[in-house]
Amino acid sequence: MKISILVLVIVFFATSAYSQLFKAEENTTCADCHEDIYEHWKTSMHGRSTAESDILYKAMMNWAVEDTKGKAKKLCVQCHTPYQALKGQEGISESDLGRPVDCVYCHSIDNLQQHPRFSMTYYGPRDNTEEDFHKIEKREHFSDGSLCLSCHAELKNPKQLSVCVTGDEFAERPDQSKTCQDCHMPQSKDDEGGAYSGHGFNGAHNPEFLHKSLTLKTSKTDSGIEVVIINDKAGHSYPTGSPLRQVILKVVARDEKGNIVFENWKENPLEEDKQAVFMKIFEDEEKYAPVPPWRAAGVKMDQRFKAGETRRLAYNMPETAKEVTVKLLFRLAPLPILKRLGIDDPYLKKAHLIDEQTVQFN
Ligand code: HEC
Ligand code: HEC
Ligand code: HEC
Ligand code: HEC
Ligand code: HEC
Repeated sequence: MKISILVLVIVFFATSAYSQLFKAEENTTCADCHEDIYEHWKTSMHGRSTAESDILYKAMMNWAVEDTKGKAKKLCVQCHTPYQALKGQEGISESDLGRPVDCVYCHSIDNLQQHPRFSMTYYGPRDNTEEDFHKIEKREHFSDGSLCLSCHAELKNPKQLSVCVTGDEFAERPDQSKTCQDCHMPQSKDDEGGAYSGHGFNGAHNPEFLHKSLTLKTSKTDSGIEVVIINDKAGHSYPTGSPLRQVILKVVARDEKGNIVFENWKENPLEEDKQAVFMKIFEDEEKYAPVPPWRAAGVKMDQRFKAGETRRLAYNMPETAKEVTVKLLFRLAPLPILKRLGIDDPYLKKAHLIDEQTVQFN
């Protein structure tokens, strides 16, 4: 399932009531009545998709812009600040161009082949004729995941290489029972106990969401341990989306006295134990790797877990090993890249724990 984000026709309705709502800064008008949803959204990555609010995006965009003599900028803003695509349209002011992926944008999408239509009608998962402050009309793309795929399906670089392909990964998932919202917009309750769809769009920026999001099993073998990792909780590859993401396995064995007698890597997992690094790495025309996505001509390595995949890794242990600890870690970006970008943010530098297990030998 691939949906082009290129837009065919632009239909634009400007009513006076529309102007009031749409012009309101920061979506506070939606927040007046949809307070809980607004609070979720504000702290989600959709609420922080702009260069001003996401330092990693800002730094990568600056790098890409510098490296492509300005060409990349037009591409990046398409999904991160989607109002940019409406530049020059009647009713769109300079300040709108910096808006993130917001309420008005998503809920004004009447038809995925067109830009949003801004009016006093908001589209959603259900019809509702009782609300008269604004009209509500049902559209299937709020329920089947295709709205999400209008930005998340695929991103191609200037050499037409796919650098992010959550769409294909999702289409090929073996367990088709869940859609994007089931996992990323779980039901929440308001103060009166009313249920609504959560708008936190939980993902890699939420350590709680990542916790136990892969199944990890460790067992003893004749010569050491076997580690089994299963991607049974994501509806796409793990990690998905941004090729910055890294999942790393760390194995440490200690003897009776607590001294380390085995470590699968100390400084650089890619050099010391390549099978323990689950990520995608790009190469350029000369096969030099790693290169950033906009320079990539091919994929050098893709060790991410496919949806439903089971991966087995074996490690031999020295006779002296008494206790082996296995940790699965998630990094939002590799440390050398953060260093290159001059980012010293403790949160971005942290390796988040997906799961951990300990095995004893007697
Ligand atoms: C004056 C109060 C009020 C304001 C302001 C308001 N809404 Fe609503 N909205 C409602 C009510 C009431 C409902 C119906 C109950 C519900 O589903 O929560 C509703 C329902 C919705 C739905 C549900 C659609 C569905 O299929 O169930 C969407 C989407 C929506 N509003 C979007 C917005 C957006 C976007 C804004 C800001 C531009 C906004 N609303 C501002 C009162 C308001
Ligand atoms: C087709 C839509 C689209 C385009 C075009 C796009 N992005 Fe993104 N970008 C996304 C989506 C969707 C995500 C979230 C996926 C994820 O978190 O893995 C994302 C995430 C990111 C992240 C991770 C941010 C973080 O906080 O972890 C960075 C960095 C990024 N994009 C940089 C760029 C740059 C630089 C460009 C231009 C060269 C660009 N993007 C163009 C859709 C797009
Ligand atoms: C208009 C484009 C657009 C649409 C539509 C869209 N997204 Fe996103 N989404 C983005 C961008 C851009 C980012 C990355 C923001 C950043 O990290 O700077 C993102 C990030 C995310 C993340 C990552 C959060 C994290 O913690 O890393 C999740 C999960 C997500 N989106 C889920 C969804 C779902 C589910 C839908 C459909 C209901 C959806 N998105 C629709 C553009 C979009
Ligand atoms: C990335 C696109 C996106 C953004 C941004 C977004 N929504 Fe939604 N919204 C959805 C989708 C998809 C659903 C349907 C979820 C489902 O079926 O569980 C939804 C559902 C709703 C509903 C109906 C909830 C219910 O279960 O009764 C309301 C009301 C709503 N949104 C309001 C808002 C408001 C207000 C904002 C901004 C604070 C907002 N949305 C931002 C995509 C979005
Ligand atoms: C069965 C549950 C499930 C379904 C269905 C699902 N996801 Fe995810 N998603 C996850 C889990 C778990 C993660 C965290 C691990 C990862 O990054 O792969 C995640 C991560 C993400 C991220 C964050 C990537 C990052 O590194 O920031 C994005 C973006 C995303 N999903 C988008 C989507 C979209 C769009 C759909 C529908 C087309 C979807 N997901 C369907 C469970 C699911």
